[in-house]
Order: sequence, then structure tokens, then C-alpha cells
Amino acid sequence: MAQFNAGILGATGAVGQKFIRLLQNHPWFEIKALGASGRSAGKPYSEAANWIESTPMPDSVKDLEVRNCISSEFKDIDFVFSGLDSSVATEIEADFAKAGIPVISNAKNYRTDPTVPLLIPEVNPDHIEMINKQRFTADGSGWIVTNPNCVAIPLTMSLKPLYDAFGIHSVVVTSLQAISGAGYPGVPSLDILGNVIPFIGGEESKIREEPLKLLGKLENGAVVHASFPVQATATRVPVINGHLLTVNVKLEKTPADISEISKAMKSWTSPISELGLPSAPKFPLHIFEDERYPQPRLHADSEEGMQTAIGRVRSGDVMDVSYIAMAHNTIRGAAGGAILNAELLAEKGFLR
Ligand SMILES: NC(=O)c1ccc[n+]([C@@H]2O[C@H](COP(=O)([O-])OP(=O)(O)OC[C@H]3O[C@@H](n4cnc5c(N)ncnc54)[C@H](OP(=O)(O)O)[C@@H]3O)[C@@H](O)[C@H]2O)c1
Repeated sequence: MAQFNAGILGATGAVGQKFIRLLQNHPWFEIKALGASGRSAGKPYSEAANWIESTPMPDSVKDLEVRNCISSEFKDIDFVFSGLDSSVATEIEADFAKAGIPVISNAKNYRTDPTVPLLIPEVNPDHIEMINKQRFTADGSGWIVTNPNCVAIPLTMSLKPLYDAFGIHSVVVTSLQAISGAGYPGVPSLDILGNVIPFIGGEESKIREEPLKLLGKLENGAVVHASFPVQATATRVPVINGHLLTVNVKLEKTPADISEISKAMKSWTSPISELGLPSAPKFPLHIFEDERYPQPRLHADSEEGMQTAIGRVRSGDVMDVSYIAMAHNTIRGAAGGAILNAELLAEKGFLR
């Protein structure tokens, strides 16, 4: 595999820092440029960033001068990861794509764009073909790919085997979301310690809509969305990392018993397992038999934070199946997911 010079937009934020940590010693991608707001630009990264990762700031980035997030300052870069605040991502990401610099983004801004792939490599790798419909540049060299919301990822990963085997009639989901999902400094400590906040602004619509695009079929270069309703409740809980979801699903085809559902989940195999992508988990879904699991503190870091853990798979009186799903929100749900997207795009020849 060729080596690529990568930039990170929003490099000083919580997701940006996770990119820096995860990209240390990456076999294909080397961090060559860091971008953030005018507040940080011009400063060495060590001065601009309030480092919140639990491992030390890597020496390789300490002295990099933070750049303004303007494409003309990133001409030496092959592509950028974006962990930009959504209030600025629309214009900045388009500026880079128009300059022929591909953008692999965590921000929500382009997720619903009909020409922009919303990508989970294990779920809808074929959707990367949508890139060919983008017209940021005449020669197609500049494009945007997004990764989904941090709840939509474990939800869709867990629904995929059920959707393929039985079809889905409807879903009811409640998320118990970790504080790190709110960035830094995030939720005030007096609000969240010893408490649960029963609302996260803007979150429920993403949980309702994104799985339908992810599970949609690609027809003539466009996605025909899946069409089942999702009822979502998003809450914030005093957990540092790992969003846990309670999921209830009514299926189109009712299986004879719950063991058929467990079997469908356990026997599901990832369509990218043969590609050997560096950040792909060996087992993207893990199904626990022990009713005490999964737990965020014990399992969020499984498979380097890239696994979706499932537990308590059981039949119900109202819906066909209920279960718990859990994944690391800033790794699988943000930076790690975007890095895996970049690896798939490199492997398929979209990065040059
Ligand atoms: N946290 C999560 O679990 C998570 C999960 C999935 C997706 N996301 C998404 O990822 C993005 C980043 O989230 P976060 O939690 O890392 O947020 P954050 O900690 O608030 O970081 C925001 C970043 O955006 C930069 N920025 C702000 N205004 C800017 C401007 N005008 N020009 C250029 N850069 C600017 C900031 O730079 P300065 O430091 O210079 O201000 C900082 O680097 C958001 O769109 C969020 O919705 C987050």
C-alpha cells in the first residue's frame, strides 16, 4: 500500500486528539498537518491543544504549527480527516473538496447529502461508489465521505444481521451516552455527576435517520433508503467512554424462536474481513452470553475500541427481540471509524 500524507482538521478537539493518538505508527497514513480555528493557528500544537487523551501527546505532533483550516494551507497533503465543529464544517469541508483534497469527516453536515457516502465499512462498503457522482472538482479528485453518528454506528452494526436475515418492521431504541461524546469541556460536572440527563439536542433525529441510509441499497449510484420507523430516546449518563443502547426490534419475518436470532447475529460475517485493513476489528460484532455484559467500563476498549458488543439477546412480548448494544463512542463512533473508512477508500483506490 502507498503511503499517504494526512491532515487533521479540528485537530485540537476531542475527536482530533483521538485521531492523533490512533494514527501513531499507522502503516499507511502519516500526520503531516494539523488545522484548527484562528484561536489556535500559528501556535505549536503543544501550546494550542488542551491534551485530554490518557496517553502522552506524541512527540511527532508537539512542534507542528497549527494551520488555519483553509485548503491553500494544505497543498502538501493527500487527504484530511475532519473533526471540525459542525458550525463551521459545511464551508471548510467544501473548500477542501473543491481544492481536490478528499475529506473524511466526522461532522454531521454532509451525512444526509444524496451524493455523499455515509459509511460503515462492515455494513455498506459498496456505497463508496457514490463518490463518482460528486462534483466538487471536474476531475473527481476532491470528495467528501462521512462516518455516522456515534449511536447510529452500534445500532446499525447490530441491526445489519437482522435486516439481512429477517427484514425489519420497526425499532425502538434508547441510548445511554457517555460524556466524552459531548466534546471538551462538554457537559458541566454539576449536571452529570450522580445524574442522568434525559435529552441530547439534535441526537434523536440522527439515530432515526442514519440507519436507513446505511442499510439502503445502492441503485444507479444513489441510495434507496431502508424504510422502517425508528423511535429513539437519547440520554446522557455519567460514563466516560462507551455508548450503551437498549434496542427493541420487530422483524418482518418472525423467526421460530430466539435462538434463530442469536444464530443470525453470531454467524454474520463482515464483507471486508478478507481485506486485512489495519484498523478493522477481527470480530466487529461480539455476542455475550453472560447477562451481565456488555458494560462500557469493561468492554468499550475491546478490539482497540473498534468492536460493537451485544448482550442480553432475548425475545419480548411486544417486539420480537430485545438486546443491548455498546461501542466506544470516540473510537468506533468517531475517529477510529473514520480511519477505517480511509483505509477502505485507500484499498479501493479512491485515495491517490
Ligand atoms: N465527541 C464525539 O464522541 C463525537 C462523535 C462523533 C462525531 N463527533 C463530531 O466531531 C466533531 C468534533 O467533535 P469534538 O467532540 O472533537 O468537538 P470539540 O472538542 O469541540 O472540537 C472542535 C474542533 O473544531 C475546531 N474549530 C472550532 N471552530 C473552528 C473554526 N471556526 N475554524 C476551524 N476550526 C474550528 C476547534 O478548534 P479550536 O480548538 O481552535 O477552537 C476544535 O479543534 C463535531 O462535528 C462532532 O459533532 C463527535
